[in-house]
Amino acid sequence: MTAIDPDFAAFIDGLPKVELHLHIEGTLEPETIFALAERNGVELPYPDVETLRAAYAFHDLQSFLDIYYAGASVLLTADDFHDMAAAYLARAEADNVVRAEIFFDPQTHTARGVPIATVIEGLTRALDAARARGLSCDLILCFLRHLSEEDAFATLEAALPYRDAFIGIGLDSSEVGHPPEKFVRVFAEARRLGFRLVAHAGEEGPSAYIVDALDRLAAERIDHGVRSLEDPDLVARLVRDRIPLTVCPFSNVRLRVCDTLSEHPLKRMLDAGLAVTINSDDPAYFGGYVGDNWRDTVAALGMDRDDVVRIARNGIDAAFVDAATRLRLHDRLDAHVAGSAGEPLVRDR
Ligand code: ADE
Ligand code: ZN
Repeated sequence: MTAIDPDFAAFIDGLPKVELHLHIEGTLEPETIFALAERNGVELPYPDVETLRAAYAFHDLQSFLDIYYAGASVLLTADDFHDMAAAYLARAEADNVVRAEIFFDPQTHTARGVPIATVIEGLTRALDAARARGLSCDLILCFLRHLSEEDAFATLEAALPYRDAFIGIGLDSSEVGHPPEKFVRVFAEARRLGFRLVAHAGEEGPSAYIVDALDRLAAERIDHGVRSLEDPDLVARLVRDRIPLTVCPFSNVRLRVCDTLSEHPLKRMLDAGLAVTINSDDPAYFGGYVGDNWRDTVAALGMDRDDVVRIARNGIDAAFVDAATRLRLHDRLDAHVAGSAGEPLVRDR
C-alpha cells in the first residue's frame, strides 16, 4: 500500500464523517461477546477469544453471517443492547463521525425470544446519550432477507409501537437467492407509513438486484452496490438520479467481493460520477472502524484530497437529515477543508 503523507492522513482522520452503513450487531468485539456470554450465562461454540477471532477467515457473505448471528446470541437484555451501541458511538465519535445511521436486525433477537421492546429500549438509550453529546444519529430497522415476507410484516407490526425510535427500513442478510421482489409489499407498507427506505443490493448479488431495489422497493439508497459497474445503463441512472451507494471497502475484501483493497472499485465508481460513501459495515469482524476504512482505502487507491472531500460531501448529501442539519454538516466539512493546508475547495450551494 502507498504510504500517505502525514498531513493528508491527519486531514482524513479529522474529516467530519458520515456513517450510513453500519450494523450494530457487527460492532460486537470478540472480547465483548465473551464478556456478555459470561454475564448472561450463554454458552458459545468457541472456547476463547482467540479461537473466535481465528474463525474470522471468511470466504463469502454466508460464512460471515453464520458467525455474526452466533456472536449476536449473547445479547439478551436492554443493557446489553445499550452497552453495544454506546461502545460503537464512542468509537465513532473518536473517528469524527458527525452523523450515524445505524442498522439493527430485530429478527435476530426476537427469534431467540428477546422482545423487540428490549432491543429498541437499549439501543435508544445509547443513541439519546450520544445525541446529548452533539452526535446526530438514528436507527434503521432491517429485515433479514433469508426469512419470509410474512416474518418481515410481523416484525414491522411489532416495531410500530416504537415507530419514533427508528427512521427507516433496510434489507440485509444472505443476498443471492433472496431478491428484492420478495419484499415488495412490506416495503410498500413501510413507505406508506413514512419510513425512509434502503436495501443491500449488488454486494454478492447481481446488478439486476440493484435495479429491482430501486424499481420495486423504491429504495432511496443502495447499500454496497459495487456490482453496479457491471451494467452501464444502471451506472448512468445512478449518476443521473444521484442515488447514494454506501460502500464498505474492508467488508468487500474480507468477504471476497474483491481480492485486495488496491483492486477495490471505489475510485472507479467515484470517477464514473457515482455518489459513493465510505462505511464500515461490521467493523468488529472486518478489521477496522470507519476511520480505518477511510485511511487505508484512500492510501490503497491513491486517492487525493479532492476525492476525499467529494466522498465526505456525498455522505452528507446522502444522510436522512433535515435541511438545517445538512447545512450544519456541510459547514463543518467546509471549516475542516478551509482550516487545513491546501487550496480551499469552493462549493456551490
Ligand atoms: N448483515 C450484516 N452485514 C451484512 C452484509 N455485509 N451484507 C448483508 N447482510 C449483512
Ligand atoms: Zn451491510
